[in-house]
Amino acid sequence: MTELSPKPRIALGADHAGYHIKEIIRQFLENAGYPVDDLGTWSEESVDYPDYAKAVADRVAAHQDAYGIAMCGTGMGMAIAANKVPGIRAAVAHNVDTARLAREHNDANVLTMGGRVVNGAQAIEMVQTFLNTTFAGGRHGRRVEKIIQIEAAERG
Ligand code: RB5
Repeated sequence: MTELSPKPRIALGADHAGYHIKEIIRQFLENAGYPVDDLGTWSEESVDYPDYAKAVADRVAAHQDAYGIAMCGTGMGMAIAANKVPGIRAAVAHNVDTARLAREHNDANVLTMGGRVVNGAQAIEMVQTFLNTTFAGGRHGRRVEKIIQIEAAERG
């Protein structure tokens, strides 16, 4: 059967603590037919998570990738760093519900998670949910618009 709409392009990034989950997610996405840009890291050798958060966030902000998925030990450092890039709404998710709400309520364009928090099966379910959930808009649209206004005002 021919697919009507192409699958969105996904940027992946991880530090050493998220590397093993990134590999699992990459395999899942590729098998499911998503185009993937794997921005590293490519081993468990210690690296600095902001470098990979920036690589993912830059591509999403430039619309080279529709969504980003970034993993460190907790997901928190990745989210903090990615959210410094204008246009990025990175959300840490810990389970399927928070992955769904990140899209539904926050219109998140980057999902972050912790390789020391979730296992491979949980991570795949969260990614599937994130990618298959649409933004609810309405009152949530008004709130996201206010976030965008804060960002614009801070940039001056
Ligand atoms: C690395 O040990 C760890 O600090 C990092 O992966 C991440 O959890 C930071 O938020």
